Amino acid sequence: MKIGILGSGMVGQTIGAKLVGLGHDVVVGTRSPEKLREWSAQHAGVRIGSLAEAAAHGEIAFNATNGGGSLDALSQAGAANLDGKILVDIANPLDFSRGMPPTLFISNTDSLGEQIQQAFPGVKVVKSLNTLNAYLMVNPGLVGGGDHTIFVSGNDADAKAEVARLFGEWFGWRDIIDLGDITTARGTEALLPVWIRLMMAFGHANFQFKIVR
Ligand SMILES: NC(=O)c1ccc[n+]([C@@H]2O[C@H](COP(=O)([O-])OP(=O)(O)OC[C@H]3O[C@@H](n4cnc5c(N)ncnc54)[C@H](OP(=O)(O)O)[C@@H]3O)[C@@H](O)[C@H]2O)c1
Repeated sequence: MKIGILGSGMVGQTIGAKLVGLGHDVVVGTRSPEKLREWSAQHAGVRIGSLAEAAAHGEIAFNATNGGGSLDALSQAGAANLDGKILVDIANPLDFSRGMPPTLFISNTDSLGEQIQQAFPGVKVVKSLNTLNAYLMVNPGLVGGGDHTIFVSGNDADAKAEVARLFGEWFGWRDIIDLGDITTARGTEALLPVWIRLMMAFGHANFQFKIVR
């Protein structure tokens, strides 16, 4: 499958490497392709391009950009390159400007997922994977035998079902809860203050939320 990854940090690199390893055709989009030369040399098959090239390439796209830059990054990617496609939005609205722990710069009555959906109405935004560490996103078996939970939020039921199917096939996810429309991203983005306190208490990020019901 052709996949476009917007963002080249830990999340973009981890998902890109995993999907290339599975045989997919991946373009990772960044403002500075030269900074990824060494990384791409270590991951044969992965291609680096501009944000617009990654968006145009993907049948499906990931937003793995810093939350503070996501709307800007998606504008650079171009609405026309994303229209009609699923955009898995992994970004969190975290403000680190006053150090640790960060605060949410969007919360309660709004979410970054909603702002992205509003700014790009032709895109099928599915908020997911924002509540766990990047390594666990692509390898849930790293903790608890893989028996834990991720969420999907979005306005398009078919897009959410497709994302859940792909995450099962690609990464082995079994417990994926559909929370409802994109406004439910307010809930999963608001998990971040809890996630960060857990990370600070444990001293590592190798843990996950499990919903028992
Ligand atoms: N790290 C994790 O385990 C984790 C887990 C869950 C969710 N998340 C969320 O996933 C997102 C990515 O996290 P990360 O840790 O991989 O890296 P990050 O440092 O938060 O984001 C890095 C990426 O954001 C891009 N970026 C920032 N501002 C931009 C702008 N104005 N225009 C275009 N691109 C911009 C950078 O582009 P350039 O390449 O051009 O510099 C870089 O590719 C974040 O929103 C984070 O909150 C991360």
